[in-house]
Amino acid sequence: MVQTKKDMPSHVVTTGTQRYECHIERGILSRVAEYLPAKAGKVFVITTEDVWKLHGKHMQFPHELVFFPGGEPNKRLHVLEAMAAQMLAKGADRSSVIVAFGGGIVGDVGGFLAAIFMRGIPVIQVPTTLLAQVDASIGGKTGVNLVGGKNLIGAFHQPLAVLIDPSVLETLPVREYRSGLFEVVKYGIISSPALFRLLADHSDRVLALEPEAVDFIVSDSVRIKAEVVSADEKEGGLRRILNYGHTLGHALEAETRYERLLHGEAVGYGMNAAAYLAERLGLLAKADADEMRRVTNLYGPWPAVGDLSPEVLAGHTLKDKKTIQGTTHFVLAEGVGTVRVVSGIAAADVVAAAAAAL
Ligand SMILES: NC(=O)c1ccc[n+]([C@@H]2O[C@H](COP(=O)([O-])OP(=O)(O)OC[C@H]3O[C@@H](n4cnc5c(N)ncnc54)[C@H](O)[C@@H]3O)[C@@H](O)[C@H]2O)c1
Ligand SMILES: [Zn+2]
Repeated sequence: MVQTKKDMPSHVVTTGTQRYECHIERGILSRVAEYLPAKAGKVFVITTEDVWKLHGKHMQFPHELVFFPGGEPNKRLHVLEAMAAQMLAKGADRSSVIVAFGGGIVGDVGGFLAAIFMRGIPVIQVPTTLLAQVDASIGGKTGVNLVGGKNLIGAFHQPLAVLIDPSVLETLPVREYRSGLFEVVKYGIISSPALFRLLADHSDRVLALEPEAVDFIVSDSVRIKAEVVSADEKEGGLRRILNYGHTLGHALEAETRYERLLHGEAVGYGMNAAAYLAERLGLLAKADADEMRRVTNLYGPWPAVGDLSPEVLAGHTLKDKKTIQGTTHFVLAEGVGTVRVVSGIAAADVVAAAAAAL
């Protein structure tokens, strides 16, 4: 049964200065106007042509359109500047509002544009990929890339609201959907035995995009992200648990020059490495580690990564920007729903974990 509007959940994010809601609701795309501030000036929808062609018809309120060309190589300051110039030419001012309508890249670019346009205007996030719905749109991190690295220019800019319509996932390329599912598996492992069980026992329903299953996995993931961000807006402590599977994941993405793996796929590898590492360090029972790997693998297969050496990968984790004072730290599981940050792990253990996951 598809949930009705009344039953559909909302999750609240509270930071030091702001409070906003993340609504998960089929059909909410046609109600975006209800979330605009009463005194909003012109509304600028920032989107990509593919998303607009598929779902733009639902945006039935007066707005101006600004297209982002799409793709990670375009997530750059000069592209942002051109978009800001277009906004100005179309009459944007301090009362304008941005609606960032698309995947995580559009969310980051549209959010950052809102953070800096005329020193900051409001943004409503309307994410359309699974990764953006369960992760990128919540928490206020926005930004663009430098040639020297991803997301190196940016700002925290919390949205007015996050409006999530899970039905748009039906048009998502299957590889993008599966890639987002690895982040959902992550939420299960770090915080939700119920979510993990659904992913473990009903992968057929999840992969077939059955509405009841999709609504639950999106909502439970959003709930966890909202709770973690509320507890720790700027990644001082708790927010680090969201990096589960990401230490080796980031290393893999970078060592394959962002060409072979989607982000979630790299996280899938990274979670298998993390399960192995936790087992090797005696933190996690073998049966639990095996079950985590089994469930992660249900959402594969992954593209092969070629003949990368585990030593190179392990070495890369020492350069990870989230490394604390030169020692590698990993988020490791002690069981489904319980993780902790472990520092000072010996290089040999990291190499063994990388080798096991490759
Ligand atoms: N700000 C954060 O906290 C945060 C967290 C995680 C990731 N990110 C960022 O998110 C980005 C990745 O986002 P992504 O994985 O969503 O990729 P993406 O934004 O490139 O979207 C993937 C592709 O799917 C298309 N698409 C989007 N919605 C669709 C739909 N409903 N139907 C059909 N096609 C659709 C997009 O146009 C694009 O071609 C990265 O740049 C990453 O840095 C940010
Ligand atoms: Zn991630």
